Amino acid sequence: MQVKADNCTIIIFGANSDLAARKLFPSLYELALWGNLPDDFRIIGAGRAALSHEEFRVSVRENMVKLFPETVREEAGWKTFAGRLFYVRLDLAEPDGYHTLHHEIMRGAGESGSNTNLLFYLATPPSLAPVIVRNLKEANLGEQNCSSDGWRKIIVEKPYGRDLQSARELNSVIGEAFSEKRVFRIDHYLGKETVQNIMVFRFSNGIFEPLWNRDHIANISITIAENFGIRDRGAFYEEAGLLRDIMQNHALQLLAAVAMEPPVDLSADAVRDEKAKVLRSIRHFIPENAEHSIVLGQYDGYRSEKNVADDSTVETFAAIKFFIDNWRWKDVPFFIKAGKNLAETVTEIVITFKCPPQNYFGPAESCSYTANQVILRIQPEETIAIKFGAKRPGEAVITDPVFMKFDYKTSFTEAGLTPYHRLLLDAMAGEQMNFIRQDSVEYSWAIVDAIRGAVGGQSPDLYPVHSRGPESVVRLYS
Ligand code: BG6
Repeated sequence: MQVKADNCTIIIFGANSDLAARKLFPSLYELALWGNLPDDFRIIGAGRAALSHEEFRVSVRENMVKLFPETVREEAGWKTFAGRLFYVRLDLAEPDGYHTLHHEIMRGAGESGSNTNLLFYLATPPSLAPVIVRNLKEANLGEQNCSSDGWRKIIVEKPYGRDLQSARELNSVIGEAFSEKRVFRIDHYLGKETVQNIMVFRFSNGIFEPLWNRDHIANISITIAENFGIRDRGAFYEEAGLLRDIMQNHALQLLAAVAMEPPVDLSADAVRDEKAKVLRSIRHFIPENAEHSIVLGQYDGYRSEKNVADDSTVETFAAIKFFIDNWRWKDVPFFIKAGKNLAETVTEIVITFKCPPQNYFGPAESCSYTANQVILRIQPEETIAIKFGAKRPGEAVITDPVFMKFDYKTSFTEAGLTPYHRLLLDAMAGEQMNFIRQDSVEYSWAIVDAIRGAVGGQSPDLYPVHSRGPESVVRLYS
């Protein structure tokens, strides 16, 4: 691993959050161990709890040992890392504490003499983002009004707002403190090896792209299924629901990657231009088309989860038929299905091609049995399969579907970086391709708002735990 970022201080708001414990500290620790972090880096955790620097280090370590016992096995490595960890107690909504934070940042910068590059990470609930950014600006910690030479960047976790209006407001607040080039809206799906490979698969091979359009493709389906429920995130889910948690970001980003035009080049903006165009071209949802294009569901037992209302109508499942109104995709249905507590955990994209004009090997309707498919399995297996028909051995001419398969595990020996490793490094290096640009965030919210508006206050359909979702999904296919 060769990438080495500029010297910098990373400031994590929400330093005692689940996200920080599960993803941020373990990733930063490993990057440090592997030598990927700059020579001079500091990490300052900011949170409400009253902790000394030392208590904070102990708590980070305890979490890591509890969650990933394998990770902290190298005592010397841990000691070096811990020496870079600091803590500032902060009521995130109160401007006063930010001066203490400023002081702590500058104290460290002064000590090391070189480190005035600042990367802020908002690992906080979305409602806190605007006030944190305002306070940063007021304390002269934003990019604007910054008197030192170092850079200032900000990473904002999803969900980015809770609808179009709040996302616009947040964009505008952030825009007053940071230029778009310094804003990294994270969707960890974009850090997955298999998601990054979608563009490589499509645009580095000559045989797929000529067929990748409405003339040859019958439909595309995207599934993000999990065989577990909301776990202990009742309060979050009651606020968000699946549309905000997964559809607005992960699912629509997969759709954009699979449907985008080839970019002018591989610069971040060229790629993000094409993704934004896809999102902008999605056909509008209106109440009149809702019945045949939207099914929302809730798993049995959701209402008994901790911090969930007895009469909650929050969705834990959504199946939606999208159309992209452009030359390449007009009238090709894109089915996206995402849900909690389904039969299995799998994320995949299935591109189903049209049948040949003449079916010699069975009745016309049997075509779907062997229809060609490209199956991009994002996780848990990391594979790409191509399905086609082959003659079953024997006298009779009977066709069966068979698969050609590529598997990351068997074709490559290198271990890939996890999404958080990769995206943290990208943000430090200023590489924005795998972060979501302001316009795409807003287009995605407009889509989700329209979906919510189209179904009105209708309650979601119940579905049994570990099933395929509500039975009403069939109406999308009629
Ligand atoms: C998160 C969602 O963004 O992504 C979770 O909040 C979801 O609800 C998770 O479970 C899925 O990510 P991954 O990478 O674990 O499949």
